[in-house]
Amino acid sequence: MTSQSPSNTEFDADDRAIRSLASGAPTTWFRPDLSSAEVVLREIGSESVSEPGPVTGIDSTIMSRAAQRFERFAPWFAETFPETAADGIIESALVTADYAQAELNERFGTELPGRLWLKRDDALPISGSIKARGGFHEVLEYAEMVAAGHGLNPNDPATYSAEEFRGLAGTHRIVVGSTGNLGLSIGILSAALGFAASVHMSADAREWKKELLRSHGVDVIEHSGDFVEAVSAGRASAEGAPRTHFVDDEDSRSLFAGYSVAALRLRDQFEAAQVTVDAEHPLVVYLPCGIGGGPGGVTYGLKRVFGDDVHCIFVEPSQAPAMFLGVRTGLHSEICVQDIGLSGATAADGLAVARPSRFIGPVISPLISGFATVSDEVIKAGVGVLHQTEGLDVEPSATAGLTVPWRTIGHLGEGSRYADATHLVWVTGGAMVPSEEREHYVAEGLNLLSTIQP
Ligand SMILES: Cc1ncc(COP(=O)(O)O)c(C=O)c1O
Repeated sequence: MTSQSPSNTEFDADDRAIRSLASGAPTTWFRPDLSSAEVVLREIGSESVSEPGPVTGIDSTIMSRAAQRFERFAPWFAETFPETAADGIIESALVTADYAQAELNERFGTELPGRLWLKRDDALPISGSIKARGGFHEVLEYAEMVAAGHGLNPNDPATYSAEEFRGLAGTHRIVVGSTGNLGLSIGILSAALGFAASVHMSADAREWKKELLRSHGVDVIEHSGDFVEAVSAGRASAEGAPRTHFVDDEDSRSLFAGYSVAALRLRDQFEAAQVTVDAEHPLVVYLPCGIGGGPGGVTYGLKRVFGDDVHCIFVEPSQAPAMFLGVRTGLHSEICVQDIGLSGATAADGLAVARPSRFIGPVISPLISGFATVSDEVIKAGVGVLHQTEGLDVEPSATAGLTVPWRTIGHLGEGSRYADATHLVWVTGGAMVPSEEREHYVAEGLNLLSTIQP
């Protein structure tokens, strides 16, 4: 199925939010009826590893097992990537954004109550985007399986530096379809472990991402179609192929587990920064969303850690609101943005996804507090704001959430509790962008600053 093949769509075309989405206008929807996190989480995952939730394939240890896997590999990361991951832990900083908050207060003519923070996944070690979390986890899990399958000790990090493993890994291939950043994370890590890797890139993928992967010895297969087509081609090439693992961004539990670990780390970071998250001090998190895997996994983890005290808002480009549309209609991956007349095209290449994940919407949607779409101009302008106010240079996809906190004013929860809210904008990619391209993003963003308006 391509994203543009006719969908099995029956939905209420008169729905206010769908009409707004179809018009391409910036649209916001906060769920009025968010269920208790405890109840939803109980329904999602069983307590038993051997018998995970029958529909979801998730059990309650999925996050802690992924965290342990990252711990086990920390010595290998430290040895293999000493420049970027000296302690072997793939994590990003949590920082305040007072200057950006002041600038946006001014532009919107409204004070955002509470404080604005940024989660700096743009600077995650090795592959410079949120995709490192899920992508690395799935490659590591596969590496452990290969090691165990050949009688090597999967729990000893030294296994993965030994020639014996690398020789074996060279006979295995990891395949993925991507708009760019997932491909970078999977390709770079696969190559570092000695695996052969093939990355199927959609038309949206940036040239430099393809070149970088080729420089690591990764096979890059270019597709003229969109992300769904790249994923389908990757899946077809892996089907039936021996010693081949396909990373399925539309349906993967392993990617999901890797993303969720962010929540455990974030809890420690807020504690260290002496920021309280509780019923009186809610946390509102803004997550750029493509197919939904990254934000879905992070949301699951955050709800496990902070329960009803956290609200997660998924943010998408106004021409590619795949998750918003799937959840609002209840049709999930049965509907794509072309079904309501949108193009699916966006300058936010990482978010250029027309049809949502088969897995995230049906399982995670009751945990999502809201959805927002943002125009490409405002997404690009966000690069300018972060450059000018915080001295950070990121890629456009990374800034999708930056202006959305101002839309929550008067709409999320009861007023007094939100006076002390922590607004966390997840900045999802940028460290790998070559300097020429970065300068272009910044110049374009600065030119578009005036598009940020009330
Ligand atoms: C920078 C960036 N942010 C956010 C996302 C969204 O992640 P997902 O497609 O899993 O929703 C992507 C996806 O590639 C990305 O590259």
